[in-house]
Amino acid sequence: MEKQYRLKQERAPIYEALERFRKMRVVPFDVPGHKRGRGNPELTEFLGEKCVGVDVNSMKPLDNLCHPVSVIREAEQLAADAFGASRAFLMVGGTTSAVQSMILSSCKRGDKIILPRNVHKSVINALVLCGAIPVYVNPDVDKRLGISLGMKRDQVARAIRENPDAVAVMVNNPTYYGVCSDLRAIVKMAHDTGMLCLADEAHGTHFYFGSGLPVSAMTAGADMASISMHKSGGSLTQSSFLLTGPKVHAGYVRQIINLTQTTSGSYLLMSSLDISRRRLALHGREIFHKVVDMAEYARQEINNIGGYYAFGRELMNGDSVFDFDNTKLSIHTLDIGLAGIEVYDILRDDYDIQIEFGDIGNILAYLSMGDRIQDLERLVSALAEIRRRYQKDPTGMLTQEYVEPVVVTSPQEAFYAEKVSLPLEQCEGRVCSEFVMCYPPGIPLLAPGEKITKTVLEHIQYAKEKGCSMTGSEDPELKHLNVLA
Ligand SMILES: Cc1ncc(COP(=O)(O)O)c(C=O)c1O
Repeated sequence: MEKQYRLKQERAPIYEALERFRKMRVVPFDVPGHKRGRGNPELTEFLGEKCVGVDVNSMKPLDNLCHPVSVIREAEQLAADAFGASRAFLMVGGTTSAVQSMILSSCKRGDKIILPRNVHKSVINALVLCGAIPVYVNPDVDKRLGISLGMKRDQVARAIRENPDAVAVMVNNPTYYGVCSDLRAIVKMAHDTGMLCLADEAHGTHFYFGSGLPVSAMTAGADMASISMHKSGGSLTQSSFLLTGPKVHAGYVRQIINLTQTTSGSYLLMSSLDISRRRLALHGREIFHKVVDMAEYARQEINNIGGYYAFGRELMNGDSVFDFDNTKLSIHTLDIGLAGIEVYDILRDDYDIQIEFGDIGNILAYLSMGDRIQDLERLVSALAEIRRRYQKDPTGMLTQEYVEPVVVTSPQEAFYAEKVSLPLEQCEGRVCSEFVMCYPPGIPLLAPGEKITKTVLEHIQYAKEKGCSMTGSEDPELKHLNVLA
């Protein structure tokens, strides 16, 4: 049985307004200058007339994303209803913009925020922007898989006890690999001490619609959540939602969003949010049931190959893996003597299979509503063949993905400080003023304000050698790093 909603989820007001608009044949003396594609035939040929015809600017019949009063407002109300939130904001700058608005709405310069260190770079970027001070809770680590897990309850409790002046606790729900902390307990701990609880749900859109999945942030009582509709929700790339709970002053959040949001919100992105929200509200349970079934099937088949370990709910331990998102197909590869990133490259180069990412010891195949069982079978047989062709002795391979940071100064102070550029080999002991990360997953190995230790340098070197896409540093080749002068 599908969920019951307060509003008519069959509606899609932005989409409906665009369909009405299309029929009106309005003569455009406004931007965009391609004028429904006529001025740029190559673009129209590539994207199609239907698509460029609704790439239009804000106007009264279509509302305005910066100050919604009609169809966008209605779409936001429907989204809030679908996600069980008090308010929902359509975001056209990716979940990065949702995460940043969430943090900028909660923290001011000098405020402390408690968070796990395995956050996406958008979180630490937000701290550079607003000057808040991170209080990191090191995530628990699975020694065999080398991946970071969730935060343990007693670690969060200790961080709260030691920092009663912190304004918020932030949680990944789930991590890229699908690991969930005990969100309900963390929300309670935060609220008991007057702190907000914020959730990065870039990888958790489906929690709101499927069944038997981990608890969503709004259900757990969190105050804000950033939702990547464009990941598991099926909308166009860069479209997301920011959700808020009853304690949050939504008018202020809108003002924060408008500090950095474009004044030319894309109707392609907004209509895709509207149509996708409708689809999830009406059919989400059935859609994600199928995704879970496919993931379970693939997990079993991959574990039958031998050598690989496709992990799942057996990792649950009641605390740092309080729950596991079993739509995620995460596979440990080290036992066949290949780093995750090597398997990732071989799958693309030799088998025309593009997966989400590979890191030191694991790969993640992202499963969603668009997958088919025959494609999974191709992945399984490619993995079996890779094992046969490339398996080697794993001795000497790096096993741990997470490197504990040594924080010396705040991200903002370090980012704006006087700095010098040094060759990587000469950076040990210095304080970094920029980011270094493998992308994806985009979790910094180094963030501004952190000490550059021997371990982290070895890790960077290893990731480079194995072919990870290294990003964040000013030097695109990452031969130099900016450090505090
Ligand atoms: C955990 C997490 N948060 C936030 C983001 C940012 O999302 P976007 O790429 O939509 O800006 C990502 C992107 O992969 C992510 O993995």
